[in-house]
Amino acid sequence: MREAVLLIGGSYGIGKAIVELIDQDYEVFVASRTKEGLEGMNVNHIPFDVLSDTLDISSLPSVIKGFVFCPGSINLKPFKMLNITTFEEDMNLNFFSLVRVVKEVIGLMSENSSMVFFSTVAVGKGMPFHSSVAASKGAVEGFVKSIAAEYAPKIRANIIAPSLTDTPLAGRLLNNDRKKEAMSQRHPLQRYGEAEDSAHMAAFLLSKKSSWITGQVFGVDGGISSLNL
Ligand SMILES: NC(=O)c1ccc[n+]([C@@H]2O[C@H](COP(=O)([O-])OP(=O)(O)OC[C@H]3O[C@@H](n4cnc5c(N)ncnc54)[C@H](OP(=O)(O)O)[C@@H]3O)[C@@H](O)[C@H]2O)c1
Repeated sequence: MREAVLLIGGSYGIGKAIVELIDQDYEVFVASRTKEGLEGMNVNHIPFDVLSDTLDISSLPSVIKGFVFCPGSINLKPFKMLNITTFEEDMNLNFFSLVRVVKEVIGLMSENSSMVFFSTVAVGKGMPFHSSVAASKGAVEGFVKSIAAEYAPKIRANIIAPSLTDTPLAGRLLNNDRKKEAMSQRHPLQRYGEAEDSAHMAAFLLSKKSSWITGQVFGVDGGISSLNL
Protein backbone atom coordinates (compact mmCIF):
# COMPACT_ATOMS: atom_id res chain seq x y z
CA MET A 1 0.00 0.00 0.00
CA ARG A 2 1.26 3.48 -0.87
CA GLU A 3 2.12 5.84 1.97
CA ALA A 4 -0.15 8.86 2.44
CA VAL A 5 0.75 12.51 1.87
CA LEU A 6 -1.63 15.32 2.86
CA LEU A 7 -1.45 18.73 1.22
CA ILE A 8 -3.36 21.72 2.53
CA GLY A 9 -3.82 23.47 -0.82
CA GLY A 10 -2.73 21.64 -3.93
CA SER A 11 -5.55 22.55 -6.30
CA TYR A 12 -3.30 24.97 -8.23
CA GLY A 13 0.03 26.80 -7.84
CA ILE A 14 3.06 25.19 -6.23
CA GLY A 15 0.89 22.66 -4.39
CA LYS A 16 -0.58 21.30 -7.61
CA ALA A 17 2.91 21.03 -9.10
CA ILE A 18 3.88 18.96 -6.05
CA VAL A 19 0.87 16.69 -6.55
CA GLU A 20 1.86 16.16 -10.19
CA LEU A 21 5.35 15.07 -9.08
CA ILE A 22 4.31 12.68 -6.30
CA ASP A 23 0.92 11.22 -7.16
CA GLN A 24 2.43 8.03 -8.59
CA ASP A 25 4.52 7.38 -5.48
CA TYR A 26 2.10 8.26 -2.67
CA GLU A 27 -1.60 8.18 -1.91
CA VAL A 28 -2.28 11.92 -2.10
CA PHE A 29 -4.91 13.83 -0.11
CA VAL A 30 -5.58 17.46 -1.01
CA ALA A 31 -7.61 19.65 1.36
CA SER A 32 -8.65 22.88 -0.38
CA ARG A 33 -11.63 25.08 -1.21
CA THR A 34 -11.68 24.21 -4.92
CA LYS A 35 -10.87 21.03 -6.83
CA GLU A 36 -11.28 21.96 -10.53
CA GLY A 37 -7.49 21.95 -11.01
CA LEU A 38 -7.33 18.35 -9.85
CA GLU A 39 -9.72 16.89 -12.42
CA GLY A 40 -8.39 13.67 -13.91
CA MET A 41 -5.69 13.38 -11.26
CA ASN A 42 -5.25 10.46 -8.91
CA VAL A 43 -5.95 12.34 -5.64
CA ASN A 44 -8.45 12.29 -2.80
CA HIS A 45 -10.02 15.73 -2.35
CA ILE A 46 -11.26 17.05 0.99
CA PRO A 47 -13.35 20.25 0.82
CA PHE A 48 -11.65 22.55 3.32
CA ASP A 49 -11.21 26.25 4.06
CA VAL A 50 -8.26 26.67 6.40
CA LEU A 51 -9.63 30.01 7.64
CA SER A 52 -12.96 28.67 8.85
CA ASP A 53 -13.04 24.86 8.93
CA THR A 54 -11.67 22.25 11.29
CA LEU A 55 -9.97 19.48 9.33
CA ASP A 56 -11.97 16.25 9.56
CA ILE A 57 -9.16 13.80 10.26
CA SER A 58 -11.60 10.87 10.07
CA SER A 59 -11.42 11.30 6.27
CA LEU A 60 -7.66 10.65 6.41
CA PRO A 61 -5.68 7.43 6.86
CA SER A 62 -4.63 6.72 10.45
CA VAL A 63 -0.97 7.27 9.50
CA ILE A 64 0.49 10.03 7.31
CA LYS A 65 4.00 10.00 5.87
CA GLY A 66 4.11 13.49 4.44
CA PHE A 67 2.42 16.84 5.04
CA VAL A 68 2.62 20.07 3.03
CA PHE A 69 0.98 23.40 3.93
CA CYS A 70 0.52 25.63 0.85
CA PRO A 71 -1.87 28.53 1.57
CA GLY A 72 -0.17 31.90 1.79
CA SER A 73 -0.49 35.57 0.88
CA ILE A 74 1.47 38.31 -0.89
CA ASN A 75 0.29 41.71 0.36
CA LEU A 76 2.94 44.12 -0.84
CA LYS A 77 2.40 47.72 0.27
CA PRO A 78 4.44 50.49 1.89
CA PHE A 79 4.24 50.16 5.66
CA LYS A 80 2.37 53.45 6.01
CA MET A 81 -0.42 52.03 3.80
CA LEU A 82 -0.74 48.77 5.71
CA ASN A 83 -3.30 48.85 8.50
CA ILE A 84 -3.25 46.50 11.44
CA THR A 85 -6.09 44.48 9.90
CA THR A 86 -3.83 43.45 7.02
CA PHE A 87 -1.17 42.30 9.46
CA GLU A 88 -3.83 40.30 11.34
CA GLU A 89 -5.18 38.75 8.12
CA ASP A 90 -1.70 37.78 6.94
CA MET A 91 -0.90 36.35 10.36
CA ASN A 92 -4.17 34.44 10.37
CA LEU A 93 -3.69 32.79 6.95
CA ASN A 94 0.06 32.26 6.99
CA PHE A 95 0.60 31.39 10.63
CA PHE A 96 -2.41 30.75 12.90
CA SER A 97 -4.27 28.59 10.34
CA LEU A 98 -1.05 26.62 9.83
CA VAL A 99 -0.66 26.08 13.57
CA ARG A 100 -4.30 24.94 13.86
CA VAL A 101 -3.87 22.34 11.09
CA VAL A 102 -0.53 21.11 12.44
CA LYS A 103 -2.23 20.57 15.80
CA GLU A 104 -4.85 18.43 14.03
CA VAL A 105 -2.48 16.28 11.98
CA ILE A 106 0.73 15.94 13.95
CA GLY A 107 -0.65 12.99 15.88
CA LEU A 108 -1.12 11.14 12.57
CA MET A 109 2.46 11.65 11.39
CA SER A 110 4.36 8.36 11.29
CA GLU A 111 7.94 7.49 12.20
CA ASN A 112 10.33 8.94 9.59
CA SER A 113 7.71 11.31 8.29
CA SER A 114 8.24 14.74 6.79
CA MET A 115 6.48 18.10 6.96
CA VAL A 116 7.08 20.86 4.40
CA PHE A 117 6.13 24.51 4.83
CA PHE A 118 6.50 27.70 2.79
CA SER A 119 8.08 30.94 3.86
CA THR A 120 9.35 33.69 1.55
CA VAL A 121 12.73 35.03 0.50
CA ALA A 122 11.67 38.29 2.19
CA VAL A 123 12.16 36.83 5.68
CA GLY A 124 15.91 36.32 5.31
CA LYS A 125 16.47 39.38 3.12
CA GLY A 126 14.81 42.69 3.95
CA MET A 127 12.67 43.86 1.05
CA PRO A 128 10.57 47.03 0.92
CA PHE A 129 6.76 46.64 1.06
CA HIS A 130 7.00 43.12 2.56
CA SER A 131 6.61 44.04 6.25
CA SER A 132 3.30 42.23 6.78
CA VAL A 133 3.95 39.04 4.82
CA ALA A 134 7.57 38.83 6.03
CA ALA A 135 6.41 39.11 9.65
CA SER A 136 3.88 36.30 9.32
CA LYS A 137 6.26 34.04 7.38
CA GLY A 138 8.99 34.81 9.91
CA ALA A 139 6.64 33.40 12.52
CA VAL A 140 6.31 30.26 10.37
CA GLU A 141 10.09 29.85 10.22
CA GLY A 142 10.46 30.12 14.00
CA PHE A 143 7.55 27.78 14.60
CA VAL A 144 8.74 25.11 12.16
CA LYS A 145 12.30 25.08 13.50
CA SER A 146 10.94 24.60 17.00
CA ILE A 147 8.64 21.79 15.85
CA ALA A 148 11.57 20.16 14.03
CA ALA A 149 13.56 20.18 17.27
CA GLU A 150 10.69 18.94 19.42
CA TYR A 151 9.72 16.05 17.14
CA ALA A 152 13.20 14.87 16.04
CA PRO A 153 14.01 12.14 15.19
CA LYS A 154 10.43 11.01 14.48
CA ILE A 155 9.26 13.85 12.23
CA ARG A 156 11.37 16.04 9.97
CA ALA A 157 10.15 19.58 9.30
CA ASN A 158 11.61 21.94 6.70
CA ILE A 159 10.77 25.21 5.00
CA ILE A 160 10.98 26.35 1.40
CA ALA A 161 11.50 30.10 0.96
CA PRO A 162 10.68 30.94 -2.66
CA SER A 163 11.24 34.17 -4.49
CA LEU A 164 8.66 35.35 -7.04
CA THR A 165 7.08 32.27 -8.62
CA ASP A 166 4.57 32.19 -11.48
CA THR A 167 1.39 30.99 -9.79
CA PRO A 168 -2.12 32.46 -9.37
CA LEU A 169 -0.91 34.03 -6.11
CA ALA A 170 1.71 36.07 -7.96
CA GLY A 171 -0.47 36.78 -11.01
CA ARG A 172 -0.67 40.53 -10.38
CA LEU A 173 3.14 40.82 -10.31
CA LEU A 174 3.61 39.04 -13.63
CA ASN A 175 0.61 40.14 -15.70
CA ASN A 176 2.47 41.81 -18.56
CA ASP A 177 5.74 41.41 -20.47
CA ARG A 178 7.31 44.51 -18.91
CA LYS A 179 6.81 43.15 -15.38
CA LYS A 180 8.02 39.69 -16.43
CA GLU A 181 11.22 41.15 -17.87
CA ALA A 182 11.82 43.37 -14.81
CA MET A 183 11.22 40.49 -12.40
CA SER A 184 13.54 38.22 -14.39
CA GLN A 185 16.30 40.84 -14.32
CA ARG A 186 16.13 41.11 -10.51
CA HIS A 187 17.26 37.51 -10.10
CA PRO A 188 20.89 36.43 -10.59
CA LEU A 189 19.64 33.44 -12.60
CA GLN A 190 17.75 35.87 -14.85
CA ARG A 191 14.28 34.44 -14.51
CA TYR A 192 11.41 34.32 -12.05
CA GLY A 193 10.42 30.96 -10.58
CA GLU A 194 8.07 28.34 -11.95
CA ALA A 195 5.87 26.26 -9.64
CA GLU A 196 7.97 23.21 -10.51
CA ASP A 197 11.11 24.81 -9.03
CA SER A 198 9.70 24.74 -5.49
CA ALA A 199 7.74 21.54 -6.17
CA HIS A 200 10.94 19.60 -6.89
CA MET A 201 12.40 20.79 -3.58
CA ALA A 202 9.20 19.79 -1.77
CA ALA A 203 9.16 16.33 -3.37
CA PHE A 204 12.79 15.87 -2.30
CA LEU A 205 12.02 16.98 1.27
CA LEU A 206 9.09 14.55 1.44
CA SER A 207 11.22 11.66 0.22
CA LYS A 208 13.71 9.39 1.98
CA LYS A 209 16.47 11.08 -0.03
CA SER A 210 16.33 13.94 2.49
CA SER A 211 16.29 11.69 5.55
CA TRP A 212 19.19 13.55 7.22
CA ILE A 213 17.72 17.03 6.72
CA THR A 214 15.48 18.82 9.20
CA GLY A 215 14.91 22.31 10.60
CA GLN A 216 16.22 24.00 7.45
CA VAL A 217 15.08 26.90 5.31
CA PHE A 218 15.79 26.36 1.60
CA GLY A 219 15.89 29.36 -0.72
CA VAL A 220 14.38 28.45 -4.09
CA ASP A 221 14.94 31.92 -5.37
CA GLY A 222 17.14 32.23 -8.46
CA GLY A 223 20.01 33.27 -6.19
CA ILE A 224 18.42 36.54 -5.07
CA SER A 225 18.78 35.87 -1.33
CA SER A 226 22.53 35.35 -1.34
CA LEU A 227 24.14 36.69 -4.52
CA ASN A 228 24.78 40.33 -5.32
CA LEU A 229 25.59 40.62 -9.04
N1 LIG B 1 4.13 32.48 -5.71
C1 LIG B 1 5.08 33.21 -5.14
O1 LIG B 1 5.65 34.13 -5.77
C2 LIG B 1 5.52 32.92 -3.74
C3 LIG B 1 6.64 33.63 -3.23
C4 LIG B 1 7.03 33.41 -1.91
C5 LIG B 1 6.35 32.51 -1.12
N2 LIG B 1 5.27 31.81 -1.64
C6 LIG B 1 4.56 30.89 -0.76
O2 LIG B 1 4.47 29.61 -1.34
C7 LIG B 1 3.24 28.99 -0.95
C8 LIG B 1 2.50 28.49 -2.17
O3 LIG B 1 2.25 29.63 -3.00
P1 LIG B 1 1.47 29.57 -4.38
O4 LIG B 1 2.03 30.69 -5.18
O5 LIG B 1 1.43 28.20 -4.93
O6 LIG B 1 -0.02 30.01 -3.89
P2 LIG B 1 -1.42 29.91 -4.68
O7 LIG B 1 -1.20 29.97 -6.14
O8 LIG B 1 -2.29 30.95 -4.04
O9 LIG B 1 -1.97 28.46 -4.27
C9 LIG B 1 -2.37 28.27 -2.93
C10 LIG B 1 -3.01 26.91 -2.69
O10 LIG B 1 -3.50 26.93 -1.34
C11 LIG B 1 -4.92 26.79 -1.34
N3 LIG B 1 -5.54 27.71 -0.40
C12 LIG B 1 -5.46 29.06 -0.37
N4 LIG B 1 -6.24 29.55 0.59
C13 LIG B 1 -6.83 28.49 1.19
C14 LIG B 1 -7.77 28.34 2.25
N5 LIG B 1 -8.30 29.42 2.87
N6 LIG B 1 -8.15 27.10 2.62
C15 LIG B 1 -7.66 26.00 1.98
N7 LIG B 1 -6.77 26.08 0.96
C16 LIG B 1 -6.38 27.31 0.57
C17 LIG B 1 -5.39 27.08 -2.75
O11 LIG B 1 -6.52 26.27 -3.06
P3 LIG B 1 -8.08 26.74 -3.01
O12 LIG B 1 -8.17 28.15 -3.50
O13 LIG B 1 -8.74 25.72 -3.90
O14 LIG B 1 -8.51 26.61 -1.58
C18 LIG B 1 -4.19 26.62 -3.60
O15 LIG B 1 -4.27 25.24 -3.84
C19 LIG B 1 2.45 30.05 -0.16
O16 LIG B 1 2.56 29.79 1.22
C20 LIG B 1 3.13 31.35 -0.52
O17 LIG B 1 3.05 32.31 0.52
C21 LIG B 1 4.86 32.00 -2.93
